[in-house]
Amino acid sequence: MAAKNSLDELESGYEGVGEYYDLFADNSDIPFFIEYANKMGSPILDLAAGTGRVTFALANAGFEVVALEKSKSMLSVARRKLEQSPIEVALRVKLIEGSMKNFALNRKFSLIIVPNSFSHLLTSDDQLLALWCIKNHLKDDGIFILDLYSGAHQYEQATFEDSPRKLPDGSIVRRIGEITSNLAQQLMRVDLCYIRQDAEGKVLGETKVVSGAALIFNREVDLLIRISGLNVEEEFGDFEKHPYTHDSGRRIFILRK
Ligand SMILES: C[S@@+](CC[C@H](N)C(=O)[O-])C[C@H]1O[C@@H](n2cnc3c(N)ncnc32)[C@H](O)[C@@H]1O
Repeated sequence: MAAKNSLDELESGYEGVGEYYDLFADNSDIPFFIEYANKMGSPILDLAAGTGRVTFALANAGFEVVALEKSKSMLSVARRKLEQSPIEVALRVKLIEGSMKNFALNRKFSLIIVPNSFSHLLTSDDQLLALWCIKNHLKDDGIFILDLYSGAHQYEQATFEDSPRKLPDGSIVRRIGEITSNLAQQLMRVDLCYIRQDAEGKVLGETKVVSGAALIFNREVDLLIRISGLNVEEEFGDFEKHPYTHDSGRRIFILRK
């Protein structure tokens, strides 16, 4: 059994590495979110919006988006994108520093999303608090898209190295990671080391971060949704909208009040 994790340590996550996030991100979810934005319209609430990866894709497509994010490092990248956006796009985006477990924005949204992030709520209490806030911010005819990695398909122990990526200044970033899951706590610990090198391979700097994710199992998700009073309208096993099966790595819900 892996060592017991401290929740405080696992929550620190993304500080100091915002500038590297987009280099390693998978954008295959964007067409899915655009499709639902087209169906539902503005305003959209992007929770745990990070660097604004999805926020700016939606704003570029013409939607008004409020992006809520807790990490200063990730938000600083989102702010830079805002400054560099054409004025008509920038006017559609509002960036807010805050936590998805306790927010009050005093407005309601047609569509709420939390791309790739819900499992960063590490306890059932935090997950229920977030679902309660989300429900309160949803218009009566609005939808909430909950996308999760299925707890049963997560690694217990793994090490990996991504292919090197290039920053605009020409420097190279390598990312090496280790995953250790504690099944009793239902928590996954991810240790990441980012190594920045110049074009000749000389190391310019090294940054280490620890983040955590809850291993949320299927019956647990079903109960969370039921307790929060949301109703499942559709369910998919990936962003291409294939049906969910027990082999699907993802579980994606379209939820209504
Ligand atoms: C995997 S990244 C995803 C970012 C973005 N949603 C995307 O898909 O590109 C997870 C993000 O969740 C943020 N996060 C974690 N816990 C949060 C919380 N309680 N409230 C708001 N943001 C949170 C992290 O700071 C990080 O930016």
